[in-house]
Amino acid sequence: MAWASSNKQIIYSGIQPTGVVHLGNYLGALSNWVHLQTDYSCIYCIVDLHALTVRMDSAEFSKKCRETFAMLIAVGIDPARSILYMQSQVAAHSELAWILNCYTYMGELNRMTQYKEKSQKNEDNINAGLFTYPVLQAADILLYKTNFVPIGEDQRQHLELSRDVAERFNNVHGGVFVVPDILIPRIGARIKSLQDPEKKMSKSDKGGEGSIVYLTDEPDVIRSKIKKAVTDSDSKVSYSSDKPGVSNLLDIYAAVKRISIEETLAALGSCSYGALKEAVAEAAVAALEPIKQRYAAALSNKIQLESTMRTNAGRAQAIASGTMIQVRNKLGLL
Ligand code: TYM
Repeated sequence: MAWASSNKQIIYSGIQPTGVVHLGNYLGALSNWVHLQTDYSCIYCIVDLHALTVRMDSAEFSKKCRETFAMLIAVGIDPARSILYMQSQVAAHSELAWILNCYTYMGELNRMTQYKEKSQKNEDNINAGLFTYPVLQAADILLYKTNFVPIGEDQRQHLELSRDVAERFNNVHGGVFVVPDILIPRIGARIKSLQDPEKKMSKSDKGGEGSIVYLTDEPDVIRSKIKKAVTDSDSKVSYSSDKPGVSNLLDIYAAVKRISIEETLAALGSCSYGALKEAVAEAAVAALEPIKQRYAAALSNKIQLESTMRTNAGRAQAIASGTMIQVRNKLGLL
């Protein structure tokens, strides 16, 4: 297999199966995942086990998993070149997560800001999975001897923990794991809510649907959401921390076009807020329209989708099993 025989470095990343992927996911992570396929051996995972930390109807959950898989193909992940698979279809993730639980301290997990935020939002279901969530994430990454993990800024703390756990295990047992480096894009790593630009764009945002652009939104919906985006009472387009709404729009434009903030300001710096919003909306519509069409095509062929899922889970399984043999040997498990 070309993938396994190449000596390219390994990229690994994951996304939760929310079904509807938003612009933050796309610009902070997925668009980079696509580009990385040229120079790296890439493994991308839909982390359905992580998603179990929140209660969901099972039929609805299966649907969302399928939709997320189809969306990743639609954005440009090539499941023949990269490995694209469902986490729960490779049992080694749960197995290694248990082992790594024994190498992770309660104090470390207590410090995780996502745990604190999520337990505030889910007060009636603060389960142990929510607490040990970053350990499963470490297992995902370490199973594949990952060199780089492309993520948005919100995942940095989890990645630092993965590195610490890998180093701790290696220090006790000798080098089994590769300690992964974190890849955070210069632009697009923190796409903010359109209605509350101090907060990240997130599905759990209480700001409502107007705060999030979904990859499946119709062009007019995208235009309307961006038109209503919160800016400020000033009228000067500039990029600074005291102008979070305008800066967020500039970030979106720069990330969609894959240009720098300086280039974005050269193009849009003299615009009115109205013209800025129009330019951002048109750039987003142009980028998302072909994705939407490919998404419909990928989702409509259920048999092909399931077969790609199974084949890719097998490819992932083959790599993960090799690491598990090394881990078991190091631990003295018979
Ligand atoms: P998740 O599903 O929340 O997000 C997937 C990716 O999208 C990025 N992202 C953003 N980037 C910029 N601006 C935003 N507003 C924004 N919102 C989300 C995230 O940083 C992420 O890169 N725990 C992870 C999934 C995971 C994982 C892994 C990631 C599980 N195992 C192993 C990397 C490696 C999560 O919930 O991502």
